[in-house]
Parts: sequence; C-alpha cells; structure tokens
Amino acid sequence: MSGEPICAEPVPIGSEADQFPIRVRGLKNAFGDHVIHENLDLDVRKGEILGVVGGSGTGKSVLMRSIIGLKIPEEGTIEVLGSQITDARDDDDIDIRCRWGILFQGGALFSTLTVAENVEVPLREFYPEITDELRHEIARYKVLLSGLPAEATSKYPSELSGGMRKRAGLSRALALDPELLFLDEPTAGLDPIGAAGFDQLIRSLQQTLGLTVFLITHDLDTLYEICDRVAVIADKRVIAVGTIPELIATEHPWIKSYFNGPRGRAAKAANERTAAEAANERTAAEAANELTAAQAANQQNAALGTSGHEA
Ligand SMILES: Nc1ncnc2c1ncn2[C@@H]1O[C@H](COP(=O)(O)OP(=O)(O)OP(=O)(O)O)[C@@H](O)[C@H]1O
Ligand SMILES: [Mg+2]
Repeated sequence: MSGEPICAEPVPIGSEADQFPIRVRGLKNAFGDHVIHENLDLDVRKGEILGVVGGSGTGKSVLMRSIIGLKIPEEGTIEVLGSQITDARDDDDIDIRCRWGILFQGGALFSTLTVAENVEVPLREFYPEITDELRHEIARYKVLLSGLPAEATSKYPSELSGGMRKRAGLSRALALDPELLFLDEPTAGLDPIGAAGFDQLIRSLQQTLGLTVFLITHDLDTLYEICDRVAVIADKRVIAVGTIPELIATEHPWIKSYFNGPRGRAAKAANERTAAEAANERTAAEAANELTAAQAANQQNAALGTSGHEA
C-alpha cells in the first residue's frame, strides 16, 4: 500500500448517526494566523475505542475540544450523536452534554472538592431534582466503578497519587452514564503497571457499558492493547485511520517510524506475548476441561460397567 490516506469514504453528514456517533467534515481550526487543522475529516464508529495519535502540538486536544463544542472552528461541520455541534442551540447543547463524559489531559478535578463531590458536580448540574442521598449513592458507585477504594470518596485530589487522580477523573466522566467517553492522555505519567491496569479498566468499562471511546494517547502499549482503530493526525488533518497493521502497511514515514521505532516494536512484542500467554492459558484451561470430562466419562463407564456386572 502507498502513503495514501485510508479514511473511509465520507458519508453525507446527517445520515448514519447511529453507526457513527462522531462525524467531522472539512474542519478548520486556527488561533489567529496559526492554523491547527485544515480540511480534517474523521468518523468514529459506534462501540469502538478509537486511538488518536500525532506528534506533540499537532492538535489532538484542540480536535477533542472542537468535538465537545469548547473550540468554535473556522470552517467545517461536526456532528455528535446526530446533532450538529457547530450550530447547537442551548437546549440541544445541554441534551448532548449529558451523553458524554470527558477526562481532560490535566485531570481538571476541582481541588477544593473531595472525589465524591467532584463526581457530584455534573449530577447537580444536569439532575438538580435528585435527592442528596441518591446523588451521594451514585457518586460512590461511580468511584468504585473506576477502581478506587471506598475510602477515596472523601479524599481531596491533593491526597491522591497521580494514578488515583486519573481514576477519580474517570469516575466523574462516568457520572452521567455517558454513551461517549473522551479521554485525553489517560495513562500519561502512570507507571507501566498502573497504565496497564488503567487500559484494562477502560476496555472492560467500554465492553460492559457499551461505550464509544475517543482516546488521545502517546502510549503505544495502550494503542496495541485496547484500541480497535487508530487515527493519525499530521499535516493539519487525519492522514490515516485503521487498525495498526493497516496503518503500518501505509508506508507513511511518520507512521512507520512511530510504529516501527524501538518503542513501537517493544509494544508490539509485549502485545504478542500477552496474546500468546492468553492463548496458552486458554489451551491449558481447555486441556484441563477435557481431562476432567474424560475422567468423568471414565468414572461413569466404570460405574456402568460395575453395575452391569452386578446386574
Ligand atoms: N487556547 C489556545 N490559544 C492559542 N494556541 C493554542 C491554544 N490551545 C492550543 N493552542 C495551540 O494549538 C496547537 C495544538 O495544540 P494541542 O494542545 O491540540 O496539541 P496536542 O496535539 O494535544 O499536543 P500534546 O500531545 O502535547 O498534548 C499547539 O500549537 C498549541 O500551542
Ligand atoms: Mg494534548
């Protein structure tokens, strides 16, 4: 394959909203003369974890901010869950904001509120009618869902480790039972074991809650372990989107050096090891099952044989 973009052919905006909860067409973003995005197209499929990669400063966070309506683009259309973000009315806007959760790059927890109070902020905003008791209960459940111990609910962000703060941010992102989850560098600054744990948490939440996840990351292990597809931002647009093997096959120099550099190779090898270990575990479990079944059959035969003698 050549260096051609492998973006799917754009489907007209306004259609297939169920299949593509996020659709961006012809996006242009700029700060003064500094053009960040130009003619950027992207589709995010329902139920996928889409990794978003690109060099530092290529506009990954700005893209996310545009999609959630925090950065008004110069040109283009952005459709989220069937609504045009670029011209959403206030009431539409509120409706849509309850349907997504966001973990910002810096965490963005309120430092003067406890973890539970942080999770309660969106609940207070969008569901002011619910009782204090129910709100506390929901917040506690979300904290536990994000893998934090119950004691963390009453802690302030400054009392938590970096990894715990990420989980606290995730629990707030999950507060409103979102359909869409935006994660900006969720594993940055975590040790490899903490990062791997966070990856698995995202994967299991995505599977159990049926989420669509827009995940900005520099973490190659995360890309290999949990992303269904990866979108690459370079030259102010999405230059390619696909599975990692599809991306590597494009021969684009940045993509090649990203995935085939020493870190990319290490992540690939680790992913293959994990897959091989999982396959071995499955084979061992299957063998154990077969042995148990064979033993049970033998015992049954023996019992039948014995009773046959006796008869
Ligand atoms: N509010 C702002 N005002 C002016 N320029 C901005 C603003 N926000 C972002 N930029 C510029 O937009 C460009 C893209 O920034 P962005 O934060 O999206 O990069 P990124 O791809 O997320 O980088 P990183 O991987 O380092 O997080 C950068 O050059 C940045 O300086
Ligand atoms: Mg960023």
